Amino acid sequence: MAAPDTRPAPLPSHLFYQSRLRRPRLDRADGIYLWDANGKRYLDGSSGAMVSNIGHSNPRVLAAMRRQMDRSTFGYRLHFENDAAESLADRVADLCPAGLNRVFFVSGGSEAVESCLKMARQHALATGHPERWQVISRQPSYHGSTLGALAVTGYGPLNDPFEPMVRTMPKIPAPTCYLDRDESSDEERGLRYANMLRDKIEEVGAASVLAFIAEPIGGASTGALVPPDSYFPRIREICDEYGILLILDEVMTGVGRTGTFLAAEHWQLRPDIVAMAKGFGAGYVPLGAMVTRDDIVEPVLDAGGFQHGYTYAGNPIACAAGVAVVDEIIERGLMRNTIDVGAALKSRLEALMSRFPFIGDVRGRGLLLAFELVADRGTMKPLPKELNAYLRLVELAYERGLIIYSRRTRGGLEGDHFMVCPPMITTMTQVEEIVDLLVDSLAAFAAEAGLPA
Ligand SMILES: Cc1ncc(COP(=O)(O)O)c(C=O)c1O
Repeated sequence: MAAPDTRPAPLPSHLFYQSRLRRPRLDRADGIYLWDANGKRYLDGSSGAMVSNIGHSNPRVLAAMRRQMDRSTFGYRLHFENDAAESLADRVADLCPAGLNRVFFVSGGSEAVESCLKMARQHALATGHPERWQVISRQPSYHGSTLGALAVTGYGPLNDPFEPMVRTMPKIPAPTCYLDRDESSDEERGLRYANMLRDKIEEVGAASVLAFIAEPIGGASTGALVPPDSYFPRIREICDEYGILLILDEVMTGVGRTGTFLAAEHWQLRPDIVAMAKGFGAGYVPLGAMVTRDDIVEPVLDAGGFQHGYTYAGNPIACAAGVAVVDEIIERGLMRNTIDVGAALKSRLEALMSRFPFIGDVRGRGLLLAFELVADRGTMKPLPKELNAYLRLVELAYERGLIIYSRRTRGGLEGDHFMVCPPMITTMTQVEEIVDLLVDSLAAFAAEAGLPA
């Protein structure tokens, strides 16, 4: 008799990501839709992870990449400049608020944030302030997965395992005013949260503070949190008062997703350094950038150079794709479409609150939108944790061919929010399609969880 086979069962794949969750294989994608290998169609209601801003298989981008590939695919930055990187830097400088005219390319959001932190530090050194090193950030927040970006990220489940390895930076609460149920006005709430920066600076020692970093409109960690209009103007004043740099993490908001090239423009805000990524490569290439001003860069270059950089920086294929993405957004008026379609989608989501009393809040701007589920809209008490709504509703939507993106809200500890962020090319008809699929998914979730609908 043959000996029993004790070898482990063959793995379905050698690949792994952060969990055992595996998905069907992607076959093709076009516009706002993707198809798996079984022919099932999915509406990309979250643009992947808020990335595919101009939709999939855009002919202009594909042609630009092919043209560039026929010329060259790589020239290391210490050996060659390239036309594509120059053109993209020119466009970014033109589109960013005045003064933000120096562009440093990277390959993604975490790299962009690392670059901002290091530029801020080197600027302090170059201008005679070696005592400045602390970067204040917010809780909850997400600034990337590398250890430097994690030091300013405020999201427990992501921070905790690495806490001993990271020089964790001071945090202030993000302006989660939708949870505040007092008599103050929106303006007062915005000022109250902004003044927490002043208090934190005083607490940790003003002389040691280098910068403040924030997402202008929150991403997945807060579920599209929009601060009151009074918040960022006061933040800018505080930064100026204490001589600290304002770094905006526009990795998710940048390149048009909220209806303006940078979300900073909603408040005529003047950041000192900006991180951009997702919508830049728009799902075609890994691409990101740090953008800043002459008066920040020049002292650093004069003092011996920026001690930082990545091998693929300014890659010609990535930059050629980036130029085509930006041109597509401008020439097709996609920021205008984002404002119009975003407003329609937001009001359709708000309308769902009357049918589904467990939707506690709808927020966001442009096509960076989210809704949060709660047990009680009056107190904003979250749904019971064991329902795992943040996973379950996503699955129910996925089964129905709608992709949405979720997180545990409130710092990753409890609560459930869902990002509804389709590509900037979405039409009004497609808004209805999204909402129909969502209603179906919410009704199925309510039935399963015993919630009213
Ligand atoms: C605001 C923000 N910053 C930084 C990052 C990190 O970007 P990446 O995943 O490209 O490294 C993300 C990604 O989700 C983000 O949303």
